[in-house]
Amino acid sequence: MTRLTSEENIIKISHVTQRFPGVVALDDVSLAIHRGETHAIVGENGAGKSTLMKILAGIQQGYEGELRISGRLARFASTRDAEAAGVSIIHQELNLVQELSIAANIFLGREIRSRLGWLDERTMCSKTVELLRALGSELDPETPVGRLRVGDQQLVEIAKALLLQNQILIMDEPTSALTNAEADRLFGVIEQLKRHGVTIIYISHKMDEVFRLADRITVLRDGRLIKTVLPQQTDVTSVTHLMVGREIKAVDFQETRQAGDEVLRVENLRLRSASGARRWQLEDINFTLRAGEVLGIAGLLGAGRTELMEVLFGLATEEVQGSVFLRGRKVYFRHPQQALAAGLALVTEDRKRLGLFENLSVQSNITLSSLSETVTAGMLSRTAERTAAEESIAQLGIRTSSPAAAITELSGGNQQKCIIARWLRTRPDVLLLDDPTRGIDVGAKAEIYRLADELCRSGMGILVTSSELPELLTLCDRILVLSEGRLTGEFSRDEASEERLMEAATQRN
Ligand SMILES: Nc1ncnc2c1ncn2[C@@H]1O[C@H](COP(=O)(O)OP(=O)(O)OP(=O)(O)O)[C@@H](O)[C@H]1O
Ligand SMILES: [Mg+2]
Repeated sequence: MTRLTSEENIIKISHVTQRFPGVVALDDVSLAIHRGETHAIVGENGAGKSTLMKILAGIQQGYEGELRISGRLARFASTRDAEAAGVSIIHQELNLVQELSIAANIFLGREIRSRLGWLDERTMCSKTVELLRALGSELDPETPVGRLRVGDQQLVEIAKALLLQNQILIMDEPTSALTNAEADRLFGVIEQLKRHGVTIIYISHKMDEVFRLADRITVLRDGRLIKTVLPQQTDVTSVTHLMVGREIKAVDFQETRQAGDEVLRVENLRLRSASGARRWQLEDINFTLRAGEVLGIAGLLGAGRTELMEVLFGLATEEVQGSVFLRGRKVYFRHPQQALAAGLALVTEDRKRLGLFENLSVQSNITLSSLSETVTAGMLSRTAERTAAEESIAQLGIRTSSPAAAITELSGGNQQKCIIARWLRTRPDVLLLDDPTRGIDVGAKAEIYRLADELCRSGMGILVTSSELPELLTLCDRILVLSEGRLTGEFSRDEASEERLMEAATQRN
């Protein structure tokens, strides 16, 4: 067998510096990527990973330094230029047109036309089905992307990048919204691509993935390249250490938490399906949540975790049956505003659609839902807003040049931290966390776990979903399992294990 990983450099990055007002996102970075290797880039939120990838993919211009692809000097003015030079990217922030269908998104700008110039929808649809199948997805190519869950959108984004069959593929946190099973399928696809000699640059906060996939790992910190290491010569702890440059305290909740009174009770909850074979997306859901308790909800993608959170928060789009009680009072929310007023808050997995106000500053994004805090005598106090924001920024370690910076300037993980900060400021009775640490680095994750624990001890009830089982096992006092819209298991902290949760999650109704 020939070894495809030769030492030939397909990409050569020399002395690249990228400045933004108030930040040096990349500071004199030099790195060579070998042809055919899978090269992982790791680092904390805001380390500069996406910025470097955006330069390679033609999205970010105006950098200092030099970039060579296969020996040739490259200065891409657009993604199109980069694609022509053989570079494709799977974006961290999903870049799909919500109104268009899956197939239309995948073929956007590279539509297949018949000889007479008509769009060849049939071929594009069947090609889409083929690409999605390879990723284990049975989605209908004609579904508008706006109706898809983030995980499915992520699969579409991946399929889109695979279509081009380019020799260099950049994956910026491709699995952040995928469950284990889907991620496994993606790894299968990556193996195939590797066998075909494709060079892959892989960014992830999940160290197990990095160690499983990477031939080499490069660590960035504060925009600087710290070191490139071989996975077989190092381990997770050492790499994490290089990333953060300090020790991370292991999250270890010593004393068990004391659950108090019931804060939330759900009885015979059902949510109708919009279409499809199943009549109900959620059926016969019964559970209680007590003050001071963290209750987890495990389940595969499509099991109904997000739907459950949305129903509770007044975001259901289909008919809901059954009852929800908040502190013993029966409630029915038609709108998130009502849920919020009653003492609920939701941190969503889909920050683009439901969480982020892209035209506002970091500080407004943080204080938006707790305006009472920052209003004095009916006037919005900028000083109070700023003080409140500064407090959250320090508490969660949000990396921003200033509280007044535009939210869109922040790295993906730091945007997520702002949303978490916003809901924490509303001091809710019940906090709903839907995959809250998607795209968040190890240090900040530990910080969020610690915060959740603290909030719980102060009497809040927390309902949390995650696509990462270890996260649930760390955080939760109790874990419920959803499979195909029904509860298929309940485990106490002591009973729960990854195996048992997986078994219940894959149980067919
Ligand atoms: N368009 C921009 N304007 C101003 N600052 C920016 C812009 N894009 C990125 N930055 C800043 O550059 C730094 C690096 O951001 P980048 O998105 O590359 O981080 P990252 O390593 O991908 O982080 P994450 O893990 O959170 O995705 C951050 O401090 C970020 O705020
Ligand atoms: Mg990023």
